[in-house]
Amino acid sequence: MSLIEINDLKVHYPIRSGFWNRITYSVKAVDGISFNIEAGETYGLVGESGSGKSTTGKSVVGLEKITSGSIMYKGKDITKKSNRKELDYNHDVQMIFQDSLSSLNPRKRIEDIIAEPLRNFEKLDANEEKLRVLQLLDIVGLDADALYKYPHQFSGGQRQRIGVARAVATNPKLIIADEPVSALDLSVQAQVLNFMKKIQREFGISYLFISHDLGVVRHMCNNIAIMNRGRLVEIGTRDDIYNHPLHIYTKRLLAAIPETNVNHRQEHREQRLEVEKIYQEQQDKYYDKDGKAYPLVQISPTHSVALPEDLVEKIKHEGEVKA
Ligand SMILES: Nc1ncnc2c1ncn2[C@@H]1O[C@H](COP(=O)(O)OP(=O)(O)OP(=O)(O)O)[C@@H](O)[C@H]1O
Ligand SMILES: [Mg+2]
Repeated sequence: MSLIEINDLKVHYPIRSGFWNRITYSVKAVDGISFNIEAGETYGLVGESGSGKSTTGKSVVGLEKITSGSIMYKGKDITKKSNRKELDYNHDVQMIFQDSLSSLNPRKRIEDIIAEPLRNFEKLDANEEKLRVLQLLDIVGLDADALYKYPHQFSGGQRQRIGVARAVATNPKLIIADEPVSALDLSVQAQVLNFMKKIQREFGISYLFISHDLGVVRHMCNNIAIMNRGRLVEIGTRDDIYNHPLHIYTKRLLAAIPETNVNHRQEHREQRLEVEKIYQEQQDKYYDKDGKAYPLVQISPTHSVALPEDLVEKIKHEGEVKA
């Protein structure tokens, strides 16, 4: 049994308009996605802005009311509040948010921010609590004098580490990390990602790692799902996604990873323009008549892609989709 099993999850937001304020249509933010997260792994969920990643993440933590489908944890559907309570799910699953400044209460000191989940879930006396908070600060590489400071007194990278410390405080099984490093510059990104990996090794945590950038996810994730307009267009291992991408949308995300080697920049740029051209011109080949992704078809035991049958047959024979 996987740690988390997401089955045909849908989250549709009703949009009301007109004089009677009737529901006129709905935004299909998440439109039928399924994937599993194994214990101890980092699962990547990657897609452009608006593809439905945060909505998925919030559904998994239990912060979003879902339209249909299920999210199974220890054999129970946690989209039902009574099951979340029974399983102590809010203790086992925590979230790290993209925007550390607005997700940390500006009027609270770091000590209280990190201790908050401990106060909710564990009955520690004042001394034990302080020791635990100091230990957590140490784990994420911050000094003890951080205890009495406020969030605005830290840099973005330091604040993100405080978010990590708070998320791991209660020793959770799964952390939903929603673009945890997107607001940080490259060197600080690497620092925070290393902390996250270190903590994962120490505590055996699983991550659902959400990002719009396949470059960031590369060194973090064992398995990756590519999300596009509320659906998944490709699922695979790191090797499947980076070395054998099949959907044009995945290829486009790969081409968008910045090239750090100056000597390869021109070639990389040409490649990116080529992929973009195919993406723009061949929508009808890769998406159905409503512009939606096709259902996923399994290509290998680890690799699935959302393509119509004729293209899937071609891949099976030729091993590649020729544009
Ligand atoms: N409360 C809401 N009401 C209506 N539409 C919403 C609501 N929340 C999100 N949406 C819409 O659902 C879609 C998916 O949003 P979501 O925040 O999940 O995307 P995302 O992949 O996290 O994007 P980003 O990378 O910009 O964070 C978007 O079109 C968004 O406008
Ligand atoms: Mg988001």
